[in-house]
Amino acid sequence: MSVASLKFDSEDLLEKGDGLRFDIPVLGPHATGFVVRFQGKPYAYVNRCAHVPIELDWEHGKFFNMTQEWLICATHGAMYSPQSGRCIAGPCQGKSLSPIPVSEQGGVVTVHLDQF
Ligand code: FES
Repeated sequence: MSVASLKFDSEDLLEKGDGLRFDIPVLGPHATGFVVRFQGKPYAYVNRCAHVPIELDWEHGKFFNMTQEWLICATHGAMYSPQSGRCIAGPCQGKSLSPIPVSEQGGVVTVHLDQF
């Protein structure tokens, strides 16, 4: 089965704002991913905490912590670098989120699920 890339309008992806969620059928029927914007660039990850494999966002799209510097898992507070996906604090020590290739050009953010 070939998986297409996904496209989002750049203007829908706000700096340190809500993340945009999407399905990842190749990982299972309920698997999701997300893309956020941080310091101007889009970053996409599988929406699965490295501590316990559940979605990070309790409230859909809310991936940033209060200071908007880190991605946070709402369940037990694991914190990740938005740029690298590396765990920086909490019960995810030594682990990382799974990155998904993403690019942006001409007002379109493309999540490359076809290269994942
Ligand atoms: S499940 Fe995410 S911090 Fe534990």
